[in-house]
Amino acid sequence: MTTPAAVIVDAAAYAQAVEDAVRAAAAYYEGGTSSLDDDTYDRLVRGIADWEAEHPEGTLPDSPTGKVAGGAVEGDVPHTVPMLSLDNVFSAEEFTAWTASLARRTGREATRFSVGPKLDGLAIAARYSEGRLSRLITRGDGTAGEDVSHAIGTVVGLPERLHEPVTLEVRGEVLMTSAQFEHANEVRTGHGGQPFANPRNAAAGTLRARERAYTVPMTFFGYGLLPLPGTDGSLAERMREMAHSDLMALAADLGVHTSARTAVPDTVAETPEEVLLRVKEIAALRAELPFGIDGIVVKADLAADREAAGSGSRAPRWAIAYKLPAVEKITRLLEVEWNVGRTGIIAPRGVLEPVVIDGSTITYATLHNPADITRRDLRLGDHVMVHRAGDVIPRIEAPVAHLRTGEEQPIVFPAQCPRCGSDIDTGEERWRCAQGRNCHLVASLAYAAGRDQLDIEGLGTTRVVQLVEAGLVTDLADLFTLRREQLLALERMGETSTDNLLAAIAKAKEQPLSRVLCALGVRGTGRSMSRRIARHFATMDSIRAADADAMQRVDGIGSEKAPSIVAEMAELAPLIDRLTAAGVNMTEPGATPPPAADAASDGDGPAAGGPLQGMAVVVTGAMTGVLEKLSRNEMNELIERAGGRSSSSVSRRTTLVVAGEGAGSKRAKAEQLGVRLATPEEFAAMVGELLG
Ligand code: IVH
Repeated sequence: MTTPAAVIVDAAAYAQAVEDAVRAAAAYYEGGTSSLDDDTYDRLVRGIADWEAEHPEGTLPDSPTGKVAGGAVEGDVPHTVPMLSLDNVFSAEEFTAWTASLARRTGREATRFSVGPKLDGLAIAARYSEGRLSRLITRGDGTAGEDVSHAIGTVVGLPERLHEPVTLEVRGEVLMTSAQFEHANEVRTGHGGQPFANPRNAAAGTLRARERAYTVPMTFFGYGLLPLPGTDGSLAERMREMAHSDLMALAADLGVHTSARTAVPDTVAETPEEVLLRVKEIAALRAELPFGIDGIVVKADLAADREAAGSGSRAPRWAIAYKLPAVEKITRLLEVEWNVGRTGIIAPRGVLEPVVIDGSTITYATLHNPADITRRDLRLGDHVMVHRAGDVIPRIEAPVAHLRTGEEQPIVFPAQCPRCGSDIDTGEERWRCAQGRNCHLVASLAYAAGRDQLDIEGLGTTRVVQLVEAGLVTDLADLFTLRREQLLALERMGETSTDNLLAAIAKAKEQPLSRVLCALGVRGTGRSMSRRIARHFATMDSIRAADADAMQRVDGIGSEKAPSIVAEMAELAPLIDRLTAAGVNMTEPGATPPPAADAASDGDGPAAGGPLQGMAVVVTGAMTGVLEKLSRNEMNELIERAGGRSSSSVSRRTTLVVAGEGAGSKRAKAEQLGVRLATPEEFAAMVGELLG
């Protein structure tokens, strides 16, 4: 996808565009929040370039097209070699055109490329003197940068001592991983500060801050290695002749963090076609990465090619950034809606001025809870940074405080449940209607009857509404005592539908405990957690007997979740008693309860001796053949019955990925990590007899 250029109509608009772009670039490199998101900035600069191509005589000296980008911050430490920027391409066609121009310069057709992530942070030069980290310098205007050596010791991946006592400069990007960003914002708001808009701003602000009462960690990724004046002559000579991929291997050997041990390591590609394949793979992995990337950097790998291609004043000709669509845009927060979920949680949702992010129009974004709104000081009418990556629900990151006009209004929190008018339990961060799951009874019953829970055929939302409105059902247990004549009296309920529904309800009584538990909708426990709890405790009685300590022994339940699950089980006791009395099954087939005296027993271990014993399995893509009819939840149940563990994300610990049709990023990651792959048919053969 090529980002369309902004259209500039006359010299005045051109001058304004240059001014806007220069200001935005200054904010970007200084770590302030720019009033332009990346996409808007790129479009503006392209518009400027188009206008300049038509009116070369009118080109302004400070145009962002003509100089080292980000030239706004001047520094006092000169760079030994300028820190350049990169030119961008936005499509396969533009990339191919670039490779052709590179081939013309190097005089050869096939150039070896190094392909890696374009890390979304700040460029930094780290000088090592005899193996000791002596100085950290920002890029500044490219010829000189600011000394930020005070940050030494706070940047993970930039060791204070290299494995060898060498003198050289490592260049790379400083950023915050998602976890570091969360932590930084918690610490900052805890000290009364405004939260950072995104990880990039957080890294920039943190790196340049000199006197702070606290330190928060950041992460470094090296992407370049060069000799310094003090470098040993023969090492310097060798470095000048090394391929980029070899330099990166050397950096890693010296103890510097690079992309090598991430899900998207730099790789070597022999042809432009191979590069484009790799670009696709990295793009597919982007949403799952724990750090931000805004593109892919493609470099001529061989030193001879780099030398032959040379550099312009702004960017090298031997490298190019293949930009990915922006995942963040600035838009306005118009309203906040408060929706009550099936468990009674009252969740705020932001209504946005519609904004297109990566091809989709975004109108809503999640806001976590009232405390979070207060912490981030969000107001109605605020310009907000909205983030959307992959299929994840869009979220509001932060207000862009300097765009405030003073017209913004406070966000009003509800005093009563917006659904039923009851009081609100504000005891926890997530507010909840005092009626709990009875507030939104229809949603909670429709969920309980759903395919992955009690699987009651014929009990969709419309029928649930009918039952609730007729007063026949006031909670889940009432379903199991419905009588034939009560159903027959309802509209559109003939004899056949009535008998079918009663049969489906009777069948639901035999569902395993894991599904009954899931149907109850205990907060913080979805399908997979319900299975783990059921497998660990084996019976409803032992779940109810568990205290927080015992609950914590279930894999994935920590010290925060355990007490809330225990409290909720107590709250649900009368309902569970009535379900039991109605004949609903309360045991998990194949599981044995942990002995009361030795509660540490690993009762949630997978079924012993199954064909997938000890395996961690991820399912992705559409299933075919005998597995076609199974939902993802049923696939996961099957894996666990076979002795394996199901998971939704691929990591080094994954042992098998079942990849069906249309499998994308998870298959790519499995290939990348060398995890075993199986087709749905191969998997069906593995679990064989359990499929029946
Ligand atoms: S190589 C001569 N590799 O992107 C410039 N840069 O927009 C060589 N960046 O200034 C840079 N990830 O700060 C290179 N893997 C990577 C990168 C990368 C991020 C940054 C770098 C550069 C900017 C250009």
